[in-house]
Amino acid sequence: MIYFDFAATTPLDSEAAEVFVQASTEYFGNSSSLHDIGGQSQDLLENCRQELANLLGINQKGLYFTSGGSEGNFLAIEALLSAPKKPGKHIIAGLAEHSSIHGVLNRLEGYSITFLPFKASGLIDVEELKRTITSETVLVAIQHVNSEIGTIQPIEDIARICRENNIHFHSDFVQSFGKIDVRSLTQLVSSFSFSGHKIYGPKGVGGVYIDPTISWRPFFPGSSHEKGFRPGTVNVPAIAAMTAAAQKIHGNSEQNYVKYLELRTAFMESLKPINEFVHIHQADSASQLPSIIGLRISGIEGQWMMLECNRYGFAISTGSACQIGLQSPAKVTQALGLSPQEAKEFIRISFGTSTNREDVVKLGETIVDIVKKFKR
Ligand SMILES: Cc1ncc(COP(=O)(O)O)c(C=O)c1O
Repeated sequence: MIYFDFAATTPLDSEAAEVFVQASTEYFGNSSSLHDIGGQSQDLLENCRQELANLLGINQKGLYFTSGGSEGNFLAIEALLSAPKKPGKHIIAGLAEHSSIHGVLNRLEGYSITFLPFKASGLIDVEELKRTITSETVLVAIQHVNSEIGTIQPIEDIARICRENNIHFHSDFVQSFGKIDVRSLTQLVSSFSFSGHKIYGPKGVGGVYIDPTISWRPFFPGSSHEKGFRPGTVNVPAIAAMTAAAQKIHGNSEQNYVKYLELRTAFMESLKPINEFVHIHQADSASQLPSIIGLRISGIEGQWMMLECNRYGFAISTGSACQIGLQSPAKVTQALGLSPQEAKEFIRISFGTSTNREDVVKLGETIVDIVKKFKR
């Protein structure tokens, strides 16, 4: 089976796995315990925090470890709302945000929420954002990279607008962390989240940064770990493994970017025989992560295409086109204004470090064959 679903998750890097085993056996102490065994875990934890803070260009004081991107999004938004810059009950979020953002916003009581769609390019309309802001707006939540089509949102512009209007800005960096150098952006946002398993680290670990000048109130009362940000014994081995994976992917990010650009071009080329049926949802190359391709093939349901590709030995995805268990269209298809029929056609192909040109071309040729047979 050839894997093309790296935006969903990645395999654990072998060196990160070694770090995980070593930290689990040698640094097993509870990082809050006061004896030396606990102290060793605490030292390892703080080294990881410092190392990740360096990679991210942030003050380590604002970095908290979580169980992943979903929890990071949840806790960051709760933290920002506990310390708004001004009174108000209006929030603006992207319509295509991850379900964890929609989840936390939809459970809030007393707030009104405006969801911003995408332009045809898969980008937020910054002018529309400006028009949507009211004197009541206290929070904007807009992701950096969309997980289904890979478009890169204009974080600098959004951050400037939020700053000018005295509004907190949370951004989900789960799909950009490790793939794009985010250091120039991390100082511009009030908070951002990231996840270990999208960068060849373990699942169930991630982090969130909250600008240390923000005096948030804890969501979980009485927590002692992570300075009261999150309860539960800290998963130091997973954090150490995530840090090792982050160092590695960070070091390779530029060469990976170039490689994914070439693979994207090769994949597009291979689809040429069925070009009339293929619709790629993408921005111009400066605002597009090359490793995620979100597309539709007219007249062919994405779920059927995914199953056919699976039968031929390729693991692709429908994104969350039919959000598993929900059977509702992906938020990105709503954000792009697609009809229900078009939404059902959506598929996602995403590349990772083991993807090579030969496999990409094979996948493209297989899709062409499937489409030709179907159309016949
Ligand atoms: C953009 C985005 N945010 C958040 C998440 C959730 O991350 P995690 O699985 O670590 O909770 C994902 C993962 O699918 C994602 O793609």
